[in-house]
Amino acid sequence: MKPRLFLIVITLLTTVVIYGQTSDNAVTGLLLSAYSERNYTADPVTDEQIDIILKCGIKAPSAVNRQPWKFTVVNDTATMKQAIPNIVQGNVIIVISGLVSQTGTTPDFDCGLATENMFVAAHGLGLGARIYTGPVRNVNLNRDLFQIPAGYNAVSLLRIGNVDKNVDAVSAATPRKTPEEIINYKK
Ligand SMILES: Cc1cc2nc3c(=O)[nH]c(=O)nc-3n(C[C@H](O)[C@H](O)[C@H](O)COP(=O)(O)O)c2cc1C
Repeated sequence: MKPRLFLIVITLLTTVVIYGQTSDNAVTGLLLSAYSERNYTADPVTDEQIDIILKCGIKAPSAVNRQPWKFTVVNDTATMKQAIPNIVQGNVIIVISGLVSQTGTTPDFDCGLATENMFVAAHGLGLGARIYTGPVRNVNLNRDLFQIPAGYNAVSLLRIGNVDKNVDAVSAATPRKTPEEIINYKK
């Protein structure tokens, strides 16, 4: 093999191997491509999809494995609209609530991890999802309507729905800071 051709082959192989370790992987590929959808179709999310998503939430790690959360599934449009006005039929909201009287641990942080697990799970199933904390105060003020369990306060809401596959995911996603702005390596 000629040296130049050999170099090209090695370069290509190296690229394939490196790419395989980063983006060409189900989980990293999903994390690198997912974004928080704003627009949903009226196609319903199925009970089976919600079951899997909830199981992924239950599997989230938590401090001392206390699992200080409750998940409330809301799928009637009128109630959902009280929290997120532009909700559409077919959407489902999961309210993630944290244990109130938990001292020495981090229920809000743990609830965040459960929320993110379910956000990623929804995208893994080909659905759209968006996390909301803006409506949390309103949900806690109307805890009976949302059936928030006693002793828990809503921490976040996860909106799940079907998305129009023709929406351009790349331009829909908001940009991120550069690695240089965020990461420093201790020398
Ligand atoms: C903790 C948290 C709270 C959020 N609250 C809201 C909210 O109240 N309303 C909203 O429209 N989006 C909310 N978002 C969505 C973010 O605005 C969105 O994830 C961010 O802009 C990045 O967008 P992208 O994932 O599409 O790139 C929230 C996200 C997180 C993680």
